[in-house]
Amino acid sequence: MLKIEYMHLQSLSILDFKNIEQADFVFSEKLNCFLGDNGAGKTNLLDAIYYLSFTKGFFNSIDAQNIRHHREMFMLQGKYIRSDENETISAGFKIGQKKQIKRNRKLYKKLSDHIGLFPLVMISPSDISLISGGSDERRKFMDGVISQFDRIYLDTLLRYNRTLLQRNNLLKQFFEKRFFDEDTLSVYDEQLAELAGVIHKKRELYVNEITPVFQSFYTFVSGGNETVGLSYQSCMNEGDYSRQLLACRNRDRAAQHSTLGIHRDDLLLELGDFPMKKIGSQGQQKTYLLALKLAQFDYLKNASDIKPILLLDDIFDKLDAKRVSKIIELVTEARFGQIFITDTDREHLAYILDKMNTEHLIFKIENGKIVGK
Ligand SMILES: Nc1ncnc2c1ncn2[C@@H]1O[C@H](COP(=O)(O)OP(=O)(O)OP(=O)(O)O)[C@@H](O)[C@H]1O
Ligand SMILES: [Mg+2]
Repeated sequence: MLKIEYMHLQSLSILDFKNIEQADFVFSEKLNCFLGDNGAGKTNLLDAIYYLSFTKGFFNSIDAQNIRHHREMFMLQGKYIRSDENETISAGFKIGQKKQIKRNRKLYKKLSDHIGLFPLVMISPSDISLISGGSDERRKFMDGVISQFDRIYLDTLLRYNRTLLQRNNLLKQFFEKRFFDEDTLSVYDEQLAELAGVIHKKRELYVNEITPVFQSFYTFVSGGNETVGLSYQSCMNEGDYSRQLLACRNRDRAAQHSTLGIHRDDLLLELGDFPMKKIGSQGQQKTYLLALKLAQFDYLKNASDIKPILLLDDIFDKLDAKRVSKIIELVTEARFGQIFITDTDREHLAYILDKMNTEHLIFKIENGKIVGK
């Protein structure tokens, strides 16, 4: 077995990021808690940590909106220990300029080179869009993870999307100019089929690998009376894709876009034999998402040989006391590394911390400022 490397964020400095004017943190390598009222800035702090791993915000990829109102720039700096080495990551964005991400003072030319080096999993109330949202949310879920450690996947996906766009433009031209050129379309079909094959295989592998882990987490947290399913849906499961493309040419020409391909893939999320979206209670949906994201954590850990940082935003909300205890049991296991959690209630937090019985630090947040421990 490969050795899983150790990583943690030692300190974080923030300047004018969202509602945080200026803050300096020194963190515990185990558990850190942001405590504060609604709107204090707890989620924004998690977002700052997320930013340093992904070179963009969790909620907003538009950098100008991450700058504190009426300011011109934001700066973030994180000091990490990663595989026994000190690492400093800084991110800065000034209105009208290109964002700058540096690793140990060296500016990245390509931001994608940074993705995956400091793996991280964020579990947030907005994950609910995975259940309630369109299939694009679920493809993003698959793509986001696999791209973190598999460059070929990311490259192939980008090439697929480019080819798809070209094919769609061609279909539009056929329609508008009332002609049809079978040979050109066939060239695109061939390219699409080749790229789609690579993506399909990797998505399938990913879903197959996380499913048993996900199910065991769900069973553990729910107490074992409910069964959940996760399955990968793709036209490529239905047989030869090239043949299918050929068969739906007339439909594509009429629709003026490509109606079949891995750009339509989806995940089927089930509770018992029914769609989670239709029948899951709020707590069941929350448990489902939590189990799914923790399975993602496991997968990422094995794929990158580093324990990702785990950000848990408001996770105990809407869960009954039994499930809360189970989650605490789960995340305090040795499989997890550094964890950040948020809570609005000191008593509730004290209860959680008492159960976790782990070395920890509390940061009391008010109006974007650290006001106490
Ligand atoms: N660019 C920005 N400039 C200034 N303030 C911002 C900016 N973006 C967001 N905010 C503010 O940050 C505040 C805190 O947001 P945050 O989501 O971190 O709160 P929270 O502590 O997580 O609250 P809750 O307990 O409700 O989840 C909000 O009032 C929001 O308006
Ligand atoms: Mg919040």
